[in-house]
Amino acid sequence: MPLQIKSLDEYKSVYQRSVDDPEGFWAEQAETFNWSKKWDKVLDWNFREPDINWFVGGKTNITENALDRHLETRGDKVAILWEPNDPNAPSKTYTYKELHAEVCKAANALKANGIGKGDRVCFYMPMVPELAIGVLACARIGAIHSVVFAGFSATALADRIKDATCKMVICSDYNHRGAKNIPVKKVVDDALAMGCESIETVLVHKNTGEDVAWNDVDKWWHDEVDGQSTDCPAEQMDSEDTLFILYTSGSTGKPKGVVHTVGGYMVYTAFSFKNVFQYQEDDIYWCTADIGWITGHSYIIYGPLLAGATTMMFEGVPTYPDAGRFWQVCEKHKVNQFYTAPTAIRALMAYGDEFVEKYDLSSLRVLGSVGEPINEEAWNWYNEKVGKGNCPIADTWWQTETGGILISPLPGITDTKPCYASYPLPGVQPILVDPDGNELTGNDVEGLLCMKFPWPSIIRTTYGDHERCRQVYFSTFQDMYFTGDGARRDKDGRLRIIGRVDDVINVSGHRMGTAEVENAINEHPQVVESAVVGFPHEIKGQGIYAYIIPSDDIVDEDQFIKEIRAVVTKEIGPIAKPDQVQVVPGLPKTRSGKIMRRILRKVASGDASNLGDISTLLNPEVVEAVKKGAKA
Ligand code: WT7
Repeated sequence: MPLQIKSLDEYKSVYQRSVDDPEGFWAEQAETFNWSKKWDKVLDWNFREPDINWFVGGKTNITENALDRHLETRGDKVAILWEPNDPNAPSKTYTYKELHAEVCKAANALKANGIGKGDRVCFYMPMVPELAIGVLACARIGAIHSVVFAGFSATALADRIKDATCKMVICSDYNHRGAKNIPVKKVVDDALAMGCESIETVLVHKNTGEDVAWNDVDKWWHDEVDGQSTDCPAEQMDSEDTLFILYTSGSTGKPKGVVHTVGGYMVYTAFSFKNVFQYQEDDIYWCTADIGWITGHSYIIYGPLLAGATTMMFEGVPTYPDAGRFWQVCEKHKVNQFYTAPTAIRALMAYGDEFVEKYDLSSLRVLGSVGEPINEEAWNWYNEKVGKGNCPIADTWWQTETGGILISPLPGITDTKPCYASYPLPGVQPILVDPDGNELTGNDVEGLLCMKFPWPSIIRTTYGDHERCRQVYFSTFQDMYFTGDGARRDKDGRLRIIGRVDDVINVSGHRMGTAEVENAINEHPQVVESAVVGFPHEIKGQGIYAYIIPSDDIVDEDQFIKEIRAVVTKEIGPIAKPDQVQVVPGLPKTRSGKIMRRILRKVASGDASNLGDISTLLNPEVVEAVKKGAKA
């Protein structure tokens, strides 16, 4: 097991060591895992290309470390505890032995269907155990998984399947979601009708059992998996072989496939899990994220299983059957560590305290927060109503690209402060810079957040387009990884993440590129031009505000706005639907034709009184019209 820090003095000395001798420090952590061949070199890197290699030449398999390694010592311990959507349906458990057997069976089924090392397998599934089993089955045989959140549209799914030229899709028939069942396979069928020629097989997991259309490529999961052997040798992977691809939005273009590799990701997710959640052997750990996002990859599946933990997987939603569901589940399973997003906390807070006060939450020891800045009110409510003032809050800052948590208090070890992700984990070297890349030294400063040294789970490339990876993360400032976030360091050295400084918005903890939403809107034939910005939203953190110039033939504006929402839902998914749509005669532009987003953001935030100097605009006259029609 990787080191678990126990005291403040230890944190300080371990942190110092990790900066003075990163290779020695990470080698020690990596040595606690099983490798079939030890690495020749701990780290080989440059941020210029970038070319980053951890545990170079080492060979291992992440599932041997997440499953086989535990069989002797904790084979009968629950690995995955699954809680269904319906509170009256039974929960389900998989011990490490059982999970190992299921993963091997699924891995053999993948092989029998022509999947091998390096092939890409797309997952489009609800939060059922088969999703975790399937993902681990890929890792077992060296296939690369690409999980697509099951709320994305058929178009978005097709884009991702094509970008990674996936050979197989694994899906469910339907998804139980609150009081509704949602078709899942239908979306896959629609995506495949958009020409995903690389797909040879669709493996369909029977979840609700409702009718589905059947195509030539379709096979039932149970037909393929059930009869397989429970023994499947683990493919020995190079430390830098790709483990998975996960798509995420950026400020320009289509979502990109972030690539993570086996060795570094394994070491860092296990290390960060143990330390940030202070996991103890008999604890029940629950992360409410969906496996479709990086949080689910790193802190439902890999980190916890590598650490031999009991990790809960929840199929449902926080408000079904009522707003007490999270707390009812915490009581039922005596959850010790609970990890969720500020947007969920704010939403539940709005339903009133009675839903949380009804339940016995005395098992809770650590509370985690992730995905967006947590405002002080939500932090206090979480602390007082959920944690009863006894559970330190780990406000964890990280990104799809970082693979694991980089900045967070260590509960019970370092202090906590509302809104502050606070301190870097060992091995993490944050730096604040001004727009010219000059380091802002000392405390009480605010700047752009970068990292000056690689940690093991840093992004390696963007799938099929290395230049894009270089451009987006490694070219803004020389020899630094640029996060896209602004941050402030307080007088005591704690870090507070302020938010994105690029054209990325964070809606309910989901990342959305404004350009991506604009491209979707522009698919509507009566849109001349559009501009999308974020605005403060009480529950979602940020909402989506779209300004649209329509063509002259719009007669019914309400109908048009409805169609705009529909086209975004079709192109991306309901999570990208604009909260506000304003029809405008023009968009404020600079003389060089660039949209002045600063003005649009101010108007969308209801803060149009002081727009600064607009005299340099190409078309200052549109500003009045934009202000007049504002929905804020
Ligand atoms: C962006 C990354 C990795 C977790 C899920 C989101 C924002 C994330 C925090 C936090 C303030 C946060 C940042 C970051 N973010 N955690 N604790 N405090 N902001 O992953 O979709 O890759 O988004 O989420 O802006 O850049 P993601």
